This record gives sequence, C-alpha cells and structure tokens, in this order.
Amino acid sequence: MKALAPGKVILSGEHAVVYGKPALVMAVDRFAEATISSNSDSRVHFELVDFDENSSLTIQAMRELKGRLMRNYQMFLNGELSIREVIKKPFHLFEFLFITFIDGVQLKLDRGVDIQLKSNIPVGSGMGSSAATLLSVLKGLTEYFKLELQPDEFFNYGLEAEKLQHGKPSGVDPYVSLHGGFVRFQNKKAENLNMPELPFYLVNTGSPTSTTGECVSHVADHFGDSKIWDDFEVVTNEMQKALIKSDLNEVKRWIRENNSLLATIGVVPMHIQHFIQDIEKNGGAAKIAGAGSVRGSNAGMVTVFSDHAPTAITNKFGFELLNVHGEAHGARVV
Ligand code: MEV
Repeated sequence: MKALAPGKVILSGEHAVVYGKPALVMAVDRFAEATISSNSDSRVHFELVDFDENSSLTIQAMRELKGRLMRNYQMFLNGELSIREVIKKPFHLFEFLFITFIDGVQLKLDRGVDIQLKSNIPVGSGMGSSAATLLSVLKGLTEYFKLELQPDEFFNYGLEAEKLQHGKPSGVDPYVSLHGGFVRFQNKKAENLNMPELPFYLVNTGSPTSTTGECVSHVADHFGDSKIWDDFEVVTNEMQKALIKSDLNEVKRWIRENNSLLATIGVVPMHIQHFIQDIEKNGGAAKIAGAGSVRGSNAGMVTVFSDHAPTAITNKFGFELLNVHGEAHGARVV
C-alpha cells in the first residue's frame, strides 16, 4: 500500500504567513512516498530510504519518545532549548506522528507495521519535504487501517508533528501538501486560485545551513513586532493581481520587492543576493521560495521569473535548475 504527497513552492508571503499575512503557494510535482505493510514482530519499523536510516520501536517505546519530544518542545516554547534540539533524529518526527495518530484514533495494533519512506523533494530546501512526508504517512495509515479522516484532522496531525521541527509554523506546508493546487493561505485557511499560467524556474542553491525552524525563530526574535509584515501583505496582494493577469512585468516587479523585504529580514545569504542581482541585471526577477537561511551561503530553492531559462547564471554559480510544474492534487493513495 502506497501513498504520495506533493511538495510546494511559495510564490509570495513566506515568513509573513507566520504573522497572519497571506501567502501564495503552489503544490508541485515532486512527491514524498510512504509504503506501508504488516510485519509479524509487533514493532513499528521506519525505513528512511534517502537517509539510509532505520528505526524499530514498540508502541510503548514510542509513547515514551513522544513524552520526551513534547517536553523538549515545551522547553523550546519556554526559551530553554533551540528548535534544533527538540528532534534529534529524523525518524523521531514520524514516530511521534505514528503514535499520536494511533492513540488519537484509538487503534490497537494486532501486529507490527513496516513504513518505508522516500522522496524526490529536495530535503530542507523550502519545498515542504517534511510536511509532504508526514502527509504521505497519514494518508497511507488511514488507508491501511481502513479509517476515514476529515481534511482538518489530516491537517492537524500533520501540523502537530511539524511543530516539533519548525517551532511555530504557519501550517502552510501541510495544508498545501494535503490539498494540492495553488492557494492563497492565511491563518490556517485557504482560498483556491487558478494555477498561474506564467512559466517560472526553480533553482536549487543547495541545502541551507539553518533549518526552517531556526529561520522562523531568528526572524521572530528580530522582526516579531515589526510593521514590515504589512509591506509583505501589499506585495502578496499585488503579486496575486499580476499573476491573475499573467502580466510578467508586474510579476517581476513584485518578486523584486518581495526579495528586497526578505533580504531585510535577514533570510537571504549574501551569495544568493549576488545570484539574484545577476538575474535582475539580465531582466529577470528572483526570490527564495521557502524559509531561506540565516547562516552560510545557500538558501534552498530560489524562484526565477524571466523570459527564458536562467541556465548560464545558474551554471556560473554551480546551482541546479529544476524542472517542476504545478500539481493540482494533494496527498493520495496510489
Ligand atoms: C516554510 O515553508 C515557510 C515559512 O513561512 C514558515 C511557515 O510558514 O511555517 C518560512
């Protein structure tokens, strides 16, 4: 039994969405995949194929792990731990999800479960790979145990787990992975929009040194009470109008504004600012497409709007041009 869930790209409003401002977000055709089968040893096995890591725990051990992770998260909320210290191993996120789900729907396991996870969404690059993996597990488990869950329940299970990794996320990643399509997301609700017709390019600048959780915490420390979020909102509203009209020049104008606001809040490393300046000198516009980075020189995905593929500049910086398209459908069993 297999389930898929898509990744996403934020066209406008990352970070601002954490402060209740709107974001324009598109699901893309990169997927996390969960394969679920039974085993006879009454434990739950996770295999993270891309990390080459395995874990096997009893239900009781998972409950204890959940208790520890929740205490860590509370310490993060109290300012006693950094978000990076809440989850120490990647599979803890999925073990937390599993036990929260099993106990939430009051299921008693009569045999063990094997869960194999893989993904072609670049990890930690702003494309929502952890949310997509969480949603693929949730869809898979729901089908495997023949349960029916409402969309809100999927979203809430995904968001609870994501908090351990991202601290205080807006919920945009699990929402878009669950529902697919192109949406205007604000305060955990979304309005469906038509997929933009303008082509854009995604450039992978490499895994950021800081995680999404660290970026969100850093921005909260420095700009939590700032008025800058109103400026982000204006940009997102104008960007939405420009996308509806398929007006490339207007889209480029608002992408440039957006990039300059993101640089102001400190999530665009200097090296990436140089890349974006080169794109701008060539008549294009570009911005990070997720959390960015508050350290190091890489920032994960950068979205480029230009008349042609930015191949030469991308090669000059040693980055990778990705071929992705909007994805109309959200998490599903295949
Ligand atoms: C992460 O994909 C986008 C951020 O706005 C964080 C969030 O919305 O939770 C940086």
